[in-house]
Amino acid sequence: MSLMSTPSAPENLMEAVVSLAKRRGFVFPSSEIYGGINGFFDYGPLGVELKKNIRDCWWNDMVRRRDDVVGVETSIIMHPKVWEASGHVAGFTDPLVDCKTSKQRYRADQLFFAAVIVDGRTVGYVSALESDNTAGDLQAAAESFKRKKAIQGQLAPVVAKDMTEAQPDEIPLIPSPATGEPGSLTPPRAFNMMFETHVGAMRDASAIAYLRPETAQGMFVDFKAVVDTGRVKLPFGIAQTGKSFRNEITPRNFIFRSREFEQMEMEFFIHEDDDWAKWHRYWIDWCKDWLKSIGLPDSHLSEYDHLKEKLAFYSKGTTDIMFKYPFGVQELWGIAARGNYDLTQHANASGKPQDIFDEATKKKFVPHVIEPAVGLDRIFLAVLCAGYAEEEVKDDKGNVEKRTVLRLSPRIAPVKVAVLPLLKNKPELVARAQALYAKIKRKYAAFYDEAGAIGRRYRRQDEIGTPWCVTIDFETIEKDGTVTLRDRDSMQQKRITEAELFALLDEQVF
Ligand code: GAP
Repeated sequence: MSLMSTPSAPENLMEAVVSLAKRRGFVFPSSEIYGGINGFFDYGPLGVELKKNIRDCWWNDMVRRRDDVVGVETSIIMHPKVWEASGHVAGFTDPLVDCKTSKQRYRADQLFFAAVIVDGRTVGYVSALESDNTAGDLQAAAESFKRKKAIQGQLAPVVAKDMTEAQPDEIPLIPSPATGEPGSLTPPRAFNMMFETHVGAMRDASAIAYLRPETAQGMFVDFKAVVDTGRVKLPFGIAQTGKSFRNEITPRNFIFRSREFEQMEMEFFIHEDDDWAKWHRYWIDWCKDWLKSIGLPDSHLSEYDHLKEKLAFYSKGTTDIMFKYPFGVQELWGIAARGNYDLTQHANASGKPQDIFDEATKKKFVPHVIEPAVGLDRIFLAVLCAGYAEEEVKDDKGNVEKRTVLRLSPRIAPVKVAVLPLLKNKPELVARAQALYAKIKRKYAAFYDEAGAIGRRYRRQDEIGTPWCVTIDFETIEKDGTVTLRDRDSMQQKRITEAELFALLDEQVF
């Protein structure tokens, strides 16, 4: 088998990834037999392994392999006062616009409009949902508007604005993207994204509670408990992974923005006099290096510093690590320097001081925090998008065929090694292959496959990202016991001993 073309991502990469995810059991729409439910997803047999591997790598590197970070697992439903103190009840909102005719709802900052100006005169408005080319879409819509209305004159280049910038007298003139007609869009209003529920048998206001919209507050609320019980000393971090819930107005881009998702967050507490900028930079670099360690290419990663004037009053700085998804460069991981806002808020609201005694100065102070917060599902999507490639290969008979390959790092691949007897009708090959399979499985995720031609079996593993296939052939049983190791990316094959195989796995899977 040899490579005929350079591996490349297809033009419709996102479609290809979504299709592979479904076809091979990585991700399914939730409740699909009932038509699905927008913004919710299920992870299938391979998806759950990939997700667990990413989570485990993060936990091992962030918590177990460090001496200055400890873990917690806090409840999803917390005392409602937590969300009042944190500011979520009052301010965890997105601007919402309704279309009264179609009953569609839009996030105002994702719904764009422009005045159609001909010979310096506004003759109407056009609208478009945010895309890779929003300005281009609006320009095309303006040209079409002018043509349809047979308006003569020079069309000015459109100036795209989002609905949060619309003036009250403009709103009735902007067409709804659902109907194409003006008059049905409402002015933007604040929509709280927390899911409400009731705790206990009562359904009144006193029983209202929320599904957490972030895992972070669990670490703040447990700060004192960890300080009092764990042997921690500043600077130190508290980490957790777990589900968060946001009633997103427009969940989209597959698992990128969903309503139920998993976060991996860490609150790194530092002395009030410590150099926050140094720690902020440290964690940005750490997060980027970690993403590379699980296989994301440097070329797809970039940084975005939030504008100072748009930061919350308590924030000293926020930098997002951005990833080049097929639908654009988007936030993957946010690293925020939050001052001592959260602990102070909880101290004030609960009446329980959240300070620490400084032996050196004999003074109490509330620690400051740096918070790296990432979505596990977004990393999952990033590794699928970065790893997916199609290439042309020539088989031993000279036939050219397409190979789909998922170049997942061995650290996170759902299956680390596939064990294949060369022929399934030779009991001695099968017995030897099954014995090796059982041995590998004690430590690493492995897959046994004896069905079909060997080339097809390789191809099935390529598509799910298995880094290595091991074939048991006659040389294995009749000669020196070596097996053929086939590398997914290069498709090169070589003979190795069992001991060498385990050494390779030990080195690459950590
Ligand atoms: N505690 C801070 C916090 O939650 P955030 O920027 O709102 O900050 C952190 O969320 C990360 O969680 C984001 O960078 C993103 O990776 C992920 N995330 C946020 N909303 C999400 C959604 N609706 N679907 C999937 N992931 C999401």
